[in-house]
Amino acid sequence: MTDSQQEPGPQEQVQAASKAFEQEFERFVRFTDEVIELTGLTLEQAVEEQRALAEVRTRHLGKKSDFAATKKLIGKVPADQRAAFGQLVQSVESQIVSQLDAAESTLKSFIEIQRINRESIDVTLPGRRPRYGHRHPITLLRERIEDIFVSLGYAIEDGREIETDFYNFTALNIPDNHPARGSADTFYTTDNFALRSQTSTVQIHAMQRRGVPVRMIAPGRVFRRDTPDPTHNPMFYQVEGLCVDRGITMAHLKGTVAEFLRRMFGPDTVTRFRPSYFPFTEPSAEFDFSCFKCKGSGCRICKNSGWIELGGSGMVHPNVLRTVGVDPQEYSGFAFGLGIDRMAALMYNLDDIRLLFENDVRFLEQFE
Ligand code: FA5
Repeated sequence: MTDSQQEPGPQEQVQAASKAFEQEFERFVRFTDEVIELTGLTLEQAVEEQRALAEVRTRHLGKKSDFAATKKLIGKVPADQRAAFGQLVQSVESQIVSQLDAAESTLKSFIEIQRINRESIDVTLPGRRPRYGHRHPITLLRERIEDIFVSLGYAIEDGREIETDFYNFTALNIPDNHPARGSADTFYTTDNFALRSQTSTVQIHAMQRRGVPVRMIAPGRVFRRDTPDPTHNPMFYQVEGLCVDRGITMAHLKGTVAEFLRRMFGPDTVTRFRPSYFPFTEPSAEFDFSCFKCKGSGCRICKNSGWIELGGSGMVHPNVLRTVGVDPQEYSGFAFGLGIDRMAALMYNLDDIRLLFENDVRFLEQFE
């Protein structure tokens, strides 16, 4: 074996390992001074450099590194050189460690500062103005109706939207074979349960809960299998009214509805009562107002009649009173039910009640 082919001695091996480190560490040297204003370096690049630096540490100081191999030579060098060799190994190692530590700590501080900067909020920036919502026109109208009736001494009742056959029909004196009980008119959820098709169901709950005398209105949603058109929706709002006391007559009914409509639409609104039939009132009447579009001369909206029906009414049927344990010889009462959607159409000059449920913000934001 010639000299040039000889295996390098322990010192050379340490030197070689140190040199290999220096070469690889060159790109990290700029991180070893303590200036953390690393211009041109992004947070993402710094994170990448940190990762690469950790790899360099493992490669040059890890268990399988060349440098670790040189440590194993300590025992092999002659005893008289061992101490000096040991010192050499130690000093090279501490130099490598201190360079790695310095670069690592600079990168760590830089990354921390960058992260804080990125996450901090500039409180002096103008805020984003929230878009205010509006109450729905039906809600606005419901609240006006409630205000009027509360001022007339009426309480406000909440009702259920899903009802049993008893409240939907039986208690309202609707006979077993009545078409309203059929699935062609009513949305059934499960057997014996249906979406209520009128707020009259609340009459029963109110009398059961409050007893008589009672004065209440019950606004709420109702559901019918009606085909949508400018004056019909399958889901719409009604307000039920009920007044039961001693000596209540049809005159009280007409006076109350007239007073309500006068306060609602002003003295010019024309209303009329027509004889009608409802199973739960006797006698019964429907009341209409003059068409909001043609003012009574006849048009597509009112189907050329000049009138738009607003609701039904009548004197509470004795059978209904009996069902809730009220003696019809002692007490009498009137009830009425209005469709709010059509009233909203009148008030806001809408030519189609379907607009109310299209949820077009450009339409809805016009009401306040
Ligand atoms: C009733 O619902 C009765 N419960 C009213 C009543 C109460 C009578 C108390 C006697 C005593 P009617 O089916 O006519 O009646 O409906 C009342 C109102 O709801 C109608 O006048 C109309 O304004 C409105 N309405 C009915 N169907 C629709 C629909 N598909 N879309 C929008 N509004 C409707």
